[in-house]
Amino acid sequence: MPAERERMQYLEALGIDVWVPREQAGQSVPDLVEVAVTADEPVPDWTELQASVAGCTRCPLHQCRTQTVFGVGNRDADWMIIGEAPGAEEDRRGEPFVGRAGKLLDEMLRAVELDRSTVFITNILKCRPPSNRDPAADEAAACRGYLERQIEMIRPRLILAVGRIAAQQLLHTDSPLGRLRGRVHTLNNGQVPLVVTYHPAYLLRSPSQKRKVWEDLCLARQVVQESPT
Ligand code: URA
Repeated sequence: MPAERERMQYLEALGIDVWVPREQAGQSVPDLVEVAVTADEPVPDWTELQASVAGCTRCPLHQCRTQTVFGVGNRDADWMIIGEAPGAEEDRRGEPFVGRAGKLLDEMLRAVELDRSTVFITNILKCRPPSNRDPAADEAAACRGYLERQIEMIRPRLILAVGRIAAQQLLHTDSPLGRLRGRVHTLNNGQVPLVVTYHPAYLLRSPSQKRKVWEDLCLARQVVQESPT
């Protein structure tokens, strides 16, 4: 199947009208909003980091996990996708976004001609909070060094923060997601652009927001295309 037709099918699966991207095409990337993130963790390499995460007991979540969920994908990825925390299926399989929301995330990625092997996908928390409750502040703080080191090592050209929790945690803000999406933020002293979008689990409940997600994906793709290689 020709690539363009395949892409149209993914867009259709997302409920997105195919004329939407053309409206986006002429827009330039909005001004950057600076957010500094500093890493004060020791500097393990990838294997050491994986081992640290696997054996982590920094917060009480280690007591109820089946296993940690480090992240999956390409360590040289241009795109890094950051969600909230593993759910039941992710805890069981040790991989992020493998449940229903994960399937929709895969569709979102395919709409911009990506798949999970070409991006890197991880979460704010590496362990599942019981009953899928929101991460507690101390849990997110305990896990933060791991994520910062992943970002440093992957050096993505773009971070896509999916959902309110990921966006607020990464940007150190309480602003609602609707105010965070639609512009380009940065992490690490302006080195890493970050775009915010809705969580696929929210999209499953509110499919009418899919168009906004498409706009966010187009913005993210534009940032990657315009960033220096
Ligand atoms: N939701 C998330 O935010 N992350 C996952 O890995 C799964 C569901």
